[in-house]
Formats: sequence, C-alpha cells, structure tokens
Amino acid sequence: MAFALLGMSGALRAASTNTALIRSGAALAGDDVDFTLADLDLPLYNGDVEDAGYPEKVETLVAQIRAADAIVMSTPEYNKNLSGVMKNALDWQSRFSPGPLTDKPVAILSATAGRSGGELAQFSLRHCLTPFGPKILQQPQLHIGSNYDGAVFADGQFVDPKGREKLAEIMQSLRAVA
Ligand SMILES: Cc1cc2nc3c(=O)[nH]c(=O)nc-3n(C[C@H](O)[C@H](O)[C@H](O)COP(=O)(O)O)c2cc1C
Repeated sequence: MAFALLGMSGALRAASTNTALIRSGAALAGDDVDFTLADLDLPLYNGDVEDAGYPEKVETLVAQIRAADAIVMSTPEYNKNLSGVMKNALDWQSRFSPGPLTDKPVAILSATAGRSGGELAQFSLRHCLTPFGPKILQQPQLHIGSNYDGAVFADGQFVDPKGREKLAEIMQSLRAVA
C-alpha cells in the first residue's frame, strides 16, 4: 500500500527553497510514497468567513491532513519565527474536530537566508504545534541557510550531498514513527 505523505510549505513563492526541500524529502522517502503538496495559499483566518462556511481550500487541507500517514513541514524564518502562512494554516485546521493533527507523525524542516538556518523558526513551529498533539520528530534536525556553502538548491531540488543524507535519515525516522 502506498505511503501517503503530505508536504506543507510555509512559503508560497514558486521558487521557494522550503518547497524544494519538501519535494526532495518526499523523493528520498521511498518509491511507495504518494506525495501531495498542500496549498497553503488560504484566506486569512476570519471568524466571519468561518461563520459563513469553511473556504473550500481549508476543507481540502483538513481532508489532506486526515488522509496523510505523515506530514513534512518546512518553514522559512520570518523575523525569528515561523511564517504567517504556516501559522494561518495551523489556525484554520485547529477549528476542526476531532483535531486533524492529533497523533499525526510530523517532521519539521527549515530553509532560510540566515546562518542559523531557521533554528528559531523550527523552535516556534514546534511550539505552535504542541496544542494539537502531533507526533513531532525530534531528531535529526536539518537547518538550511548560509551555514551551507555553495549551490544548496538547483532545479527545484535540495542538492547538498551531506544535507541530503540527513534529509533521507529524517524521512526514514518519520516513516518509522508512522
Ligand atoms: C519578512 C521577512 C523576514 C525574514 N526574517 C528572517 C529571519 O529572521 N531570519 C532568517 O534567517 N531569514 C529571514 N528572512 C529571509 C527568509 O528566511 C528567506 O527569504 C527564505 O529563503 C524564504 O524561504 P523560501 O525560499 O522558501 O521563500 C526573512 C524574509 C522575509 C521576507
């Protein structure tokens, strides 16, 4: 049976390095992986919108989370935190019961410009996930930023050899939890 892996990227731009990291992780996760990249280009959470009925994209996201065997999230660091895009998606899914993320295996990645490679963004994403009770993979961790030399991304893929080894390890650990 296929392994359903959902990717959630905290960056919306087409050339996002976070999305590239997720895609590379999915490719390293095994031949039986059925990968879906979630669309997090959602309306901002607004109680009036919710009262009028959940936006279709939100319903789709929640269904994708429920159907996933595991999730890989990657966020850029925006002002030392997770991105608003990711936080908004977490806020929308939190309005559903039972909680879509309860006991869901989740791996956290980050790709940013700074030297810490998004360590603080990962920390804040972990913190934001705690109310929902997912099984968050703690180790190994991968922080991609100016701490890596040379061409780390090319053609929409994460190409650093050592980093890819760690990413493969993360994906195997995630599968072991699932
Ligand atoms: C509003 C804003 C705030 C940012 N703050 C940080 C930061 O605190 N630390 C950091 O390392 N990079 C920061 N950056 C750089 C982003 O992390 C970088 O552009 C990242 O590669 C974006 O991810 P993407 O390639 O997936 O779009 C910031 C960028 C923006 C637009």
